[in-house]
Amino acid sequence: MIGIFDSGVGGLSVFREIYKLLPEQSYVFYADNANCPYGEKTPEFIQERAKAITNELLQKGCQIIVVACNTATAAAIATLRDSFPVKFIGMEPAVKPAALGTKSGVIGVLATAGTLKGSKYLKTKGQFEDDVKIVEHVGQGFVELVEAGKLVGKETEDVVEKSLRPLLDEGADTIVLGCTHYPFLIDTIKKLSGPSVGVIDPAVAVARHLVFVMVQEHLLSERDATTALMRLAEPDYAIDAAGKPKIELCSSGDPEALQRTFALISR
Ligand code: DGL
Repeated sequence: MIGIFDSGVGGLSVFREIYKLLPEQSYVFYADNANCPYGEKTPEFIQERAKAITNELLQKGCQIIVVACNTATAAAIATLRDSFPVKFIGMEPAVKPAALGTKSGVIGVLATAGTLKGSKYLKTKGQFEDDVKIVEHVGQGFVELVEAGKLVGKETEDVVEKSLRPLLDEGADTIVLGCTHYPFLIDTIKKLSGPSVGVIDPAVAVARHLVFVMVQEHLLSERDATTALMRLAEPDYAIDAAGKPKIELCSSGDPEALQRTFALISR
């Protein structure tokens, strides 16, 4: 059983990609809505929450945990790895593919304050800074929009515009989504940035990485892993193409946002 958690519904953007590869697996998804957003919280607070959630996921029988939250990965994955005997898969801001793909030589990163301050991001950034210009901005108000289900429309565009425009004005032709909530705003982000700007969601790479680690951990046979990775080539492999997901949805707060967002990705 695979455990996945986030501060809120954002991690479902990661579950969506994992499920496309591994539809036969069972899942527990935990949204810490009662404490969302994590973006401005202290690393200590996030570490405590991440440990408590992990305990719950392990009690439910999860054998591997996906930290489907960039902010929690930045603040807590090292602590989690030190504290528990299972494997943790974290989020990685997709600076590398963006740096390799940019034509203008400028990439823009949207993430929470916690992620942008984290040592993992700063290290990755440092590796590419000599080759490309990296500009960043906190997606101010983005998480709140997604939790409220306001994914399109005038209000959403106004909020997104404020954080996105500075990156576009710097000449960014590639935008990295460094927070798992942001892919739910991708239509608005694409509409505002126009067709010449690429938008990168690292969730597919995380799903692929999970498959490799599950093989190493003997949680998946090599044969099933091959089948899973072949699904990457299938366009539009919709969630309900594989039937009803075996998933338990847990929330520390209002479960409605989670149900609503789950219904959205299940369409
Ligand atoms: N979805 C989260 C992330 O990837 C957390 C956002 C937040 O709670 O501020 O960073």
